[in-house]
Amino acid sequence: MLSQAVILVGGQGTRLRPLTYRLPKPMIPVLNRPFLEHTLAYLKSHGVGSAILALSYLPEAIQSHLGNGANHNMALSYAVEASPLGTAGAVKNAEPYLEGTFAVLNGDIFTDLNLDAMLGFHRSRGAEATIALTRVDDPCSFGVVETEEGGRVRRFVEKPSPDQVTSHWINAGVYILEPEVLRHIPQASHYMFERGLFPRLLELGEPVYGYPFSGYWLDMGTPEKYLNLNCDLLSAKVISHLIPDLSRDGVSCAADTVIHPSASISGPVVIGGGSRIDRGARITGPVVIGADCRIGEGASLERAVLWTGVSIEAGSRLKQCLVNRSETGGKEQVISFGQP
Ligand code: GDD
Ligand code: MG
Repeated sequence: MLSQAVILVGGQGTRLRPLTYRLPKPMIPVLNRPFLEHTLAYLKSHGVGSAILALSYLPEAIQSHLGNGANHNMALSYAVEASPLGTAGAVKNAEPYLEGTFAVLNGDIFTDLNLDAMLGFHRSRGAEATIALTRVDDPCSFGVVETEEGGRVRRFVEKPSPDQVTSHWINAGVYILEPEVLRHIPQASHYMFERGLFPRLLELGEPVYGYPFSGYWLDMGTPEKYLNLNCDLLSAKVISHLIPDLSRDGVSCAADTVIHPSASISGPVVIGGGSRIDRGARITGPVVIGADCRIGEGASLERAVLWTGVSIEAGSRLKQCLVNRSETGGKEQVISFGQP
C-alpha cells in the first residue's frame, strides 16, 4: 500500500477563467465541496494517510481551508514554492517530506484508478517510475506516452500536433515514483516531468513504465469538463469517496432550503444550505445549486452548476451552463455550452 502522495497545485488554471481569479483550480466546488477534498477522500480510500501539497498559486487559500488535514483524516504537509518550479521541481521541493515509494497526482484530475493495482504493476516490473495511462479520443492537449509490449515506455510526445499523434494513450497525471528519481531533478529550478525528468530517465535507460487503465478519468481544467464532472458524479457515472451516499436520482438538499410547493425538481439535484426555489421554478437534473442561491419564479434550470449566492431571475431558462457571481459588482456570469 502507498502511504504518501504529492498533489501538484500550481498554475492559474487559465482555461477555467473567470472561475479561478481568486480561487486556485483545486478549490473550485464540485458538488458544493472543494475539488481537493474529493482528491483527499480518493487517496484515503486507497490507504494513503499522508499528502504533501506542492503549492505555487494562492497557497493561503488552500492552507487556511485544509490546515493539518485533521478534518479529513489525513496528515497534510505543504511545500510552497516562491515561484513556480514546474511539475517535477515542485516534487523536488517536497523531498524533505518524502520517504520510500510515493505517488504524485496532478491536482486537476478526477479518476477511480486503482492505486493498489498500479503499485502491484510498478513493483512487478521493478520500475523506477510508473505513469498511469488513459485512452482519449483527442490526445493533442495531453502528453502521449508510447509503450512497448509489457508496458515499458519508449517515447513521450507532450501536446502533440494532430500529425504527431502516434497513440491515444496519454499520461493521466498519476505517477508512482521511487525516491531515487529525485536525484535527477535540479534543486530550486523550474523542471517538468513531462518534458524533463521522464525523457531524461529514458535516456539514462532507467525502467519507466506505463500502466494503462480503463476506469473513469477526467482533467477538469476547462469549464465544459468541469460541468461534465459535476454531472457525471450526480448521475453516478463515477463515485466520489467524499460523498459515497449521494442520492442517485433524488434530490439532496440542506435542511434549510426553501422550496415552493409548485416548483418541480427532478433529480439528480444537489442544493446547498440557505437556498430558495420560488413558485413554478423547474429544475431538471443533473443540477448543482450552491449555498444561498435564489431561483426566481418560473425559472428553469437543466444540466447546470450554480456557485454560492447566485440569483437566477424570474422566467430565465438556463441549460448546459455554469453560473457564478463575478468578483466585481456581484453580477451573475453565465458560461454556457451548446444549445441555450
Ligand atoms: N506546484 C506546482 N508548481 N504545480 C504545478 C506547476 C508548478 O510550477 N505547474 C503545473 N502544476 C500543476 C497544475 O496545477 C496541475 O495540477 C498539474 O501540475 C498539471 O498541470 P496542467 O497545467 O493542468 O497540465 P496539463 O493538463 O496541460 O498537462 C498535464 O496533465 C495531463 C493530464 O491531465 C501533463 O502532465 C500531461 O502530460 C497530461 O496528459
Ligand atoms: Mg491539467
